Amino acid sequence: MELERRDENWYVRALNRVQAKMEKVVDRNLGKIPYTTDENGRFDDRSGKKDICWWTNGFWGGELWQLYRLSGNEKFKSEAIAVEEKMDAAFMDYNGMDHDAGFRWLPTAVINYKLTGDKESRNRGLLAAANLAGRFNMNGNFIRAWNDWGDDRDTTGWAIIDCMMNLPLLYWASKELGDPRFKAIAVAHADTAMKNFIREDGSVKHIIGFDPATGEYLRDYGGQGFGEGSSWTRGQSWALYGFALSYKYTGNERYLETSMKVADYVLSEIKDTYLIPVDFRQPENVTLEDSTASAIIASGLIELAQALESIGKEQEKADKYMAMAVNLLKTLDEKRCDYSLDKDNILEKCTAAYHDEKHEFAIIYGDYYYIEALMKLDGRVLTIF
Ligand code: GLY
Repeated sequence: MELERRDENWYVRALNRVQAKMEKVVDRNLGKIPYTTDENGRFDDRSGKKDICWWTNGFWGGELWQLYRLSGNEKFKSEAIAVEEKMDAAFMDYNGMDHDAGFRWLPTAVINYKLTGDKESRNRGLLAAANLAGRFNMNGNFIRAWNDWGDDRDTTGWAIIDCMMNLPLLYWASKELGDPRFKAIAVAHADTAMKNFIREDGSVKHIIGFDPATGEYLRDYGGQGFGEGSSWTRGQSWALYGFALSYKYTGNERYLETSMKVADYVLSEIKDTYLIPVDFRQPENVTLEDSTASAIIASGLIELAQALESIGKEQEKADKYMAMAVNLLKTLDEKRCDYSLDKDNILEKCTAAYHDEKHEFAIIYGDYYYIEALMKLDGRVLTIF
């Protein structure tokens, strides 16, 4: 496995290309919080009042912090802090605050606090954690997903697999305050997710609707995947990575086993092109891809392999997971990355949801997890999640 990881340092070359590109990209995007790119390949901006609560707004800050770690260039740090400060407006919009508090404030406020000890950043992280904890439904032991969207769907009892990635905010808050409440909520949610979202074959549902008053399981939804009973690849990636993280922060082996169950299923579905579809169960004639899922699966597999290595368990599987992560990342590097200065994004062919009108475009969290995974390979990563 060591040999494979070193493999002529291809990932160091990739990181050098990322750094050289982003040194220029950040200069022409000062003050923005991007999600995607416009028709000219330039970042959009979600930092205005209308968009400040957009769920992906933490990823640009996280990417900047990783780039700061990679390069030592202060401009990445100052821009990351500017993003974090702009996001304070989100705290003033109750309906804009949702289960994605971890995605927003772990890569911004919490990592800033961990690196600099900044008290305001600590405060932001704790406010975000308290808001996330406030979404816990004691009747069903789950964290509520979105707020109502103003249409006829009642989402009060909805939980989604993505939320597993937000739990590290609660684990951090418990440790920071010496208060077990936050961790208890995270564990209760993770247990509910483990019991209800993971199918027998290791595939994962996206949305479950519980009765919010009794906690009874009502039904599941296809969500951002192809449909009910399908296997939305980013959802699989959130589960694989999210359960590995819950293992890291609790030491509960049931989460490690759940992450492995999902990983084994995911590995069995990946074709030898190493390109990831939007849904493992999309119709055979559909070729839609999602590079974000590929990057997140890769980063999650490295997390899982390292967890197994650290306890000396399942070495063969750990090697398989690491080898697959390398194959996915090398494929992205060779086939799905734009390292030119023409475009602001790195990853191409990212997809938000199967049934959206638009597919295969630039999405900021794809770039974030691609960089994070490469930096895990070369050991310089900042632990944000
Ligand atoms: N958490 C929403 C998504 O993965 O699109």
